[in-house]
Parts: sequence; structure tokens; C-alpha cells
Amino acid sequence: MGLLDGKKGVIFGIANDRSYAYFITQALLREGAECAYTYMPMGKMEHRVRKAVEGLGVSDPWLEPCDASSDESLDEVFDKLKNSEQFGELDFIVHSIAFADKDYLKPDMFHKTPRQVFTQAMDVSAYTLLGMSQRALPLMPNGGSIMNMSYYGGEKVIPGYNVMGVAKACLEHTTRYLAYELGDQGRNVRVNSISAGPFKTLAGAGVGGMDEMIAHQERKSSLKRANTGEEVGNTAVYLLSDMSSGVTGETVHVDCGFSIVGL
Ligand SMILES: NC(=O)c1ccc[n+]([C@@H]2O[C@H](COP(=O)([O-])OP(=O)(O)OC[C@H]3O[C@@H](n4cnc5c(N)ncnc54)[C@H](O)[C@@H]3O)[C@@H](O)[C@H]2O)c1
Repeated sequence: MGLLDGKKGVIFGIANDRSYAYFITQALLREGAECAYTYMPMGKMEHRVRKAVEGLGVSDPWLEPCDASSDESLDEVFDKLKNSEQFGELDFIVHSIAFADKDYLKPDMFHKTPRQVFTQAMDVSAYTLLGMSQRALPLMPNGGSIMNMSYYGGEKVIPGYNVMGVAKACLEHTTRYLAYELGDQGRNVRVNSISAGPFKTLAGAGVGGMDEMIAHQERKSSLKRANTGEEVGNTAVYLLSDMSSGVTGETVHVDCGFSIVGL
């Protein structure tokens, strides 16, 4: 018996087998979930995502392109889900995507951020949660659970995290406003955020000083180590399963107790 037996959902954000979304998927599949997947339509992404998902033992995955910064692309992917036999009704959504121009993810660059870089970071990293949720809602007649990925740089200043930190603050508060409305009027859809520690992924590599951020967590966190992808995956299982049925609008820190330490 798995904690997610009979539950179906969509994963946004696998780029390769280092992505947080990859570890989340691994844990969801272990617990019996059925997952649909999307990839960012650029370069060799389709091939990379397919390879990663197949590496998790899924043959012939439901895999479609989605650039979440485009309403048309979001409409298309949710229409395909709605019309598919397997994913016409959903129980969960995993939002594990973010983007900001890496030229501005360096110390002393926040105050130089141009309008276009700022709005793009907010759009891709925060608004897309709302864009996905409003389209997922009609496919969740029996309620559901939506989760996203944040970072401590949305609560405190982490030099170099810059505009992405501002976008994470927006993402976490978008989570709370969505949780309030989507929990109401019999909708019973929960929305939560995982705030995970720094992790070497494609997106992570774009943030200046990633090695130092990881070393800092290893030195200063309560557990004196970096968190693993598996630990984030297991927390996703909790948030997407009925084990967390009374939890919504929360940001759960999976950072080995880094964020509770002041000095
Ligand atoms: N790596 C870290 O240190 C860290 C820490 C905490 C939170 N996070 C968050 O975890 C999430 C996943 O990032 P990751 O670290 O696994 O890196 P990743 O590079 O593996 O994943 C980022 C994903 O975002 C996707 N993406 C970017 N723009 C998109 C768009 N317009 N439409 C659709 N998809 C788009 C990419 O294709 C990629 O799959 C992000 O929200 C990130 O901010 C990362």
C-alpha cells in the first residue's frame, strides 16, 4: 500500500536527474502515484526529461511541452490533460520551476536589475503557480493538493539570490492567497510550499556562490549537513497525500533546520 495509491498529478520542472522535481517524482512513484510530465520546449529538454523519467522506470510517459510563461502553452497542456483518458481528473500539481537572468544573480547586482529581468523572474517563478492552479481547478472536482518549491532567500537577504528572492517571497504569499480561496466553497484544494536548502541543479548553478551557500548550511544548520533530494521528495509525498489533509498555505522548510538559526 502506497500513500499515493490511486492519485494522479502533473509534474512541472524536471530538467534532468539532479532536479528537485526528479527526486519528488521518484518519491511519488514509490508511493503509487501516476504522473504526467512536462518539459520546457527548448534545446534538448524533451530528450533529457524523457531520459530522466524513463530512468525512474516509467516507460512511455505522458510528456508534453509547456512554457509556463505563455498562457497559450498552459492552455494547451491543460486541454491535453483534460482530454486524455488517464489524466482528465487530477489530484495534485507539482510546481518546481523558476527562472531569472543569471547576470543579475550575483552580489551587488540586485539594485541594477532592469524592469524586464524583474518582471520575467516574477512571472516565471511566481505567477505561473497561479496560472497553473486556475487551470487545474476544473480538473480537481474531488479536491486536490498543489505544491511548489521555494528557498529561504524569499524570507531573508541572501547576497546574490537577489531578484529570485523577491520572486520567492511572492511565490510563498501567492501560495497563502491561493490556499485561502481554493480551500473554500467546497473546492478542498490545498496549496503548500517546500522551502528547500541549496542544491546543485541547473537552476542552482545559475545562482552565484552556490558552493558557499551549501557549505554555510553544512556549518550552520541544526543538523550540520545539507538536505538531500530524497528528503524533499518525502516531504512532497506528505504534502500531496492525505497525511497532510489539515495543512494548507504552509511553507515547510526542508533545510536541516538552517532557517531557525539566528547566528
Ligand atoms: N537548487 C536549489 O538550490 C533550490 C533551492 C530551493 C528551491 N529551489 C527551487 O526548486 C525549483 C526547481 O529548481 P531546481 O533547483 O530543481 O533546478 P532545475 O534547473 O533542475 O529545474 C528548474 C526547472 O524550471 C524549468 N523552467 C524554467 N523556466 C520555465 C518556463 N518558462 N516554463 C516551464 N518550465 C520552466 C526548467 O525547464 C527546469 O526544469 C525551483 O523553483 C527552484 O527555485 C531550488
